[in-house]
Amino acid sequence: MQRREFIQTTAGLASGMLLLNSKAAFGYQANSAVRMALLGCGNRGTHVATSFSRNTVAQVVALADIFSDKLEAGRAHFDEVNATLGRAALDSKLLFRGPHAFEQLAASADVDMIQISTPPFFHVEHLQAAVAAGKHVYCEKPMGIDVKQAKRALEIAKRVRPTQSVDVGFQCRNAPPIAAIAEKIKAGALGKIASISAYYYAPASKEKLHPGAGADEYRLRNWLWDRALSGDILVEQNIHIIDLCNWILGARPLKATATGGRNILTHAGDCWDNYQVDFLYPNDVRVSFASKQFGDYDMFEAGLRLFGSEGAATIPYAGPVAIAGAQKWSWQDSAATSSATGKFAANGNFEDNLAFADRDKERTFIDSIVTGPVHNQIAAGVETALSCMMGRMAGLRHHEATWEELEAHGETYKLGMDLRQFA
Ligand SMILES: NC(=O)c1ccc[n+]([C@@H]2O[C@H](COP(=O)([O-])OP(=O)(O)OC[C@H]3O[C@@H](n4cnc5c(N)ncnc54)[C@H](O)[C@@H]3O)[C@@H](O)[C@H]2O)c1
Repeated sequence: MQRREFIQTTAGLASGMLLLNSKAAFGYQANSAVRMALLGCGNRGTHVATSFSRNTVAQVVALADIFSDKLEAGRAHFDEVNATLGRAALDSKLLFRGPHAFEQLAASADVDMIQISTPPFFHVEHLQAAVAAGKHVYCEKPMGIDVKQAKRALEIAKRVRPTQSVDVGFQCRNAPPIAAIAEKIKAGALGKIASISAYYYAPASKEKLHPGAGADEYRLRNWLWDRALSGDILVEQNIHIIDLCNWILGARPLKATATGGRNILTHAGDCWDNYQVDFLYPNDVRVSFASKQFGDYDMFEAGLRLFGSEGAATIPYAGPVAIAGAQKWSWQDSAATSSATGKFAANGNFEDNLAFADRDKERTFIDSIVTGPVHNQIAAGVETALSCMMGRMAGLRHHEATWEELEAHGETYKLGMDLRQFA
């Protein structure tokens, strides 16, 4: 049996066993569905909710989106998914559209769990409504696009009830090869870690056109290009790699210096197309991070390399995941993959080392709801988001930024449009 198949099978069994043992730990009968809702029926949201449906006992029963075309596409898709799983079609009463859709969804008594997959600017506001309504929440990263939102998220974290579970969408931590190597590094396989070299080289994102869309709607549909809506590429996308640095080091950066800019992109929006950030972590650990997001040539690479006194670790999205040195080790399946085949996936549906990241993340989250113990990942999500914001701040002001300066003077962003026009 290939290691991948083995993990797939044992992970499924483990999940099933936990369910059988659960006996209504949090009000769920063993094997009864967790009634889930998708807020933001776009690319990533649809992928993740489909994966929840196929890999866990979660069943999509409700949808919400600001735009009717996205809601209708979501309905068609999940009716099909539910049909293939022998489940009922969506009830029209549980389809919510417009700028208040998130509140109507949160108020629904027919929903146990809400998956928030709206653009980053809205995450914290939508999280607040879902947590206040007592729902379990799976919220996409980032946990806020500015310091004000991040602090608000920390307040929300305090109000999560002891029976509520909240996850933040850092699925890379759950990718089996990454989870395995992280465990070894945390146990000391590299000796004293001195430095990390990390990178995220992505192609340009594609324009999303919609007939009759005005300027605000165009911005909303192309939120990835817009700093207020996305947080910029460092906070929105590169955050996965910074999160791995924080998680593996068990620390957050103390300060950052950065450069970057918009050297190639000429389309609408104000996000930079490249960043170079140097972070200083406790114990004098240096992290050098570089990213770009432009060009449509066939190339995507993301990952990190850690260097320590006893060994070095290589953790790419695609290609061998391995440790060199005194405790030499490699992940069996990744040795056969090549970084040259790395393909970008706008919905996060990566192959190679991330192939099972979403599935395992979702199973762990649903287990936390069904059997406990519950999760509350908001504060950890905020810490990583703030780390990225510190890099952005240092870049934008062309000057070193410390954590204390970020907390005191981090920039804030306004939406700059009235969503009531989409009622
Ligand atoms: N974890 C990952 O690997 C990963 C990968 C891709 C995207 N993401 C995250 O997922 C989220 C969604 O990204 P996407 O690529 O699916 O974007 P998308 O534009 O395809 O989807 C966003 C959806 O939200 C809807 N929406 C926008 N504003 C709304 C509002 N105020 N209320 C209700 N609905 C609203 C849009 O109409 C759209 O259907 C983002 O936060 C992004 O950072 C995570």
